[in-house]
Order: sequence, then structure tokens, then C-alpha cells
Amino acid sequence: MNLDLLSGDTPTRNAAVSVFRAKAALRAALEQPRRDGQTIGLVPTMGYLHEGHLSLLRAARAECDLVVMSLFVNPTQFAPGEDLDRYPRDEERDLWLAGDAGADFVYAPAVAEVYPDDFSTAVEVGGPLTEVFDGDPARRGPGHFRGVTTVVAKLFNVVGPDVAYFGQKDAQQAAVIRRMVRDLDFPVRIEVLPIVREADGLAMSSRNAYLDPRDRERAAALSRALGAVERTIREAGSLQAGLDAGRRELAGAGIEPEYLEARDAERLEPVTELGGRPVLVAVAAQVGAARLIDNVLIHT
Ligand code: PAJ
Repeated sequence: MNLDLLSGDTPTRNAAVSVFRAKAALRAALEQPRRDGQTIGLVPTMGYLHEGHLSLLRAARAECDLVVMSLFVNPTQFAPGEDLDRYPRDEERDLWLAGDAGADFVYAPAVAEVYPDDFSTAVEVGGPLTEVFDGDPARRGPGHFRGVTTVVAKLFNVVGPDVAYFGQKDAQQAAVIRRMVRDLDFPVRIEVLPIVREADGLAMSSRNAYLDPRDRERAAALSRALGAVERTIREAGSLQAGLDAGRRELAGAGIEPEYLEARDAERLEPVTELGGRPVLVAVAAQVGAARLIDNVLIHT
């Protein structure tokens, strides 16, 4: 396929999908459908699509009249030294997969379209939601979530979706976006869909591409550890015993987690006892060349 065809502001067809580089062109194309009362679903992605992304697109297809996927590797959510430069990309494949899974429009802007030279604004959710887990300054830091909320707020303003779809894979991100939408009165419903996994339990992620075969095998220990946490909590009725069992499972695969912690699923505050609100147990670990995250939601 000739990618030059896809570089203009005029939508070009790829399978069933129209590609937009400019927000003005996308807005113009959404005007009539919106006037006609069509519902618009948005699936924000950074591309290199896998079944996790496709599950969001299929849900949007089933529920909305018009499905927009954004494809943008957002530089502001990567800290210096993170993997922005090597983040996997395959736009041609993504466009075909997106069309196949039901996207009508793909918004794939260049960095300058999203962040003009004198870009000076950020959207930031404060407090524990962005300070714990990945937001801990010793890990990715709150700046990661500032980048996510800024770009997602911009996408909401460009597309004006009725519904936006996110994955439970990034549970903290989903909680942060829900809070932003509530606090800033964005007129959009947020849908969070279950984690899609490989056969051995590894949560699908574009970053799994970084794993060599040996690390790919070791990586399955993350989901096994979460399984052990959940099972032990149910059997022993103890959060601490659960987390200990999870740590043992990771240690067995030679994995030292950045964190394996249990927190209130909505507010991400510490939980000390079971039997209350849903608990999110989240793990992050470097496995070979990939930093991986996974989580399980436990209704105690
Ligand atoms: P990305 O990592 O491409 O993920 C896009 C969406 O797919 C997110 O909502 C993510 O939670 C979801 N997803 C990823 N892996 C999944 C899996 N295994 N099962 C279910 N859903 C999965 O998340 C981002 O991009 C960016 O931060 C973004 C929101 C696009 C802002 O730049």
C-alpha cells in the first residue's frame, strides 16, 4: 500500500477506514453525523494494535453509530530515558486492523498537530490517584499521568465522543481519566473493559514486543502472581498473606517487582482490611527489556 495516500488532510480509504492527520478535517467530517444524532465512540490508542485494543474497538462498534480511533504515540507521557524512541510502530498494519475491528475514522496526527511549538497548557489530576503506583516519583512519576490526561482531554475536545473506551489493563490510567471527566464535566461516558490476555496469562501489551523468548516466558509470572494473590486472599482471608504469595511467585521467576500493592480500586488509597470496597492489586516489573504492568480487581 502507498502510504503517501494517507498523508493528506483529505480522508483516504483503507479497508473501511478513513484516516485524518488534521483535527480540522476530522471535526468537519464529524459535523454531519453529529447533527444527524449519530452517537460517536472514541478509542484512544498509541497503536501497534493487539487484541486488547481490538476488544475496545469491537465494543465501540457494537454500541456506537460512528467509531473513531486515535493513533498517536504521545511524547508528553514518556519521561526522558523512557522508550519513546523505540516504542513499536506499524501504522499500515494498524489501519487495516482498526478498519477490520470496526473503526470508521482513524485520527493519526503528527506531533506538531497535537503540540504546536508554544504549547503551554496541561491537564493534571492531583492527589493520591497520580502519586501512587506508576505515579510515584521513584517510578514513572505524576508527569506521566499529566501527559495522559492532557492528550486525552485534547482528544475529547477534538472528537466530542459520547462514549470513550479504555482498558482495565491500565487500571490507574482509567481511574485518573474517570476523575478528570468528573472533575472537569466532560460530557462523555467512560467505559472500562476487561484485560485481554495471551494463552499463558500474560496481559497483552504493545511493549511485549520488547521481550526475547526467555523473558517472554518469565513474563507470565506476573499474571500467575496476581492469581496467587487473589486465591490466597480468598482462602486465607488475609491481604498480607496474598501479597506474600504473589511475591513468592514472582521471585520464583527471578522477578523483583517495582511494586505489588493492594489499594482501593477507585481512590487508590491504602487498604488494610478486607470486606469493604473493591480492591485493586497492581504489579509493575521490569522483565528483560520491557517494563510490564498488570492488575486484578478483587471484590472482597
Ligand atoms: P495504549 O497503551 O495503546 O492503550 C490503548 C488502550 O488499550 C488503553 O485504554 C489500554 O488500557 C487498552 N489496553 C491495552 N492493553 C490492553 C489489554 N491487554 N486488554 C484490554 N485493554 C488493553 O493507554 C494508552 O495507549 C495511552 O496512554 C492513551 C490512553 C492512548 C493516551 O496516550
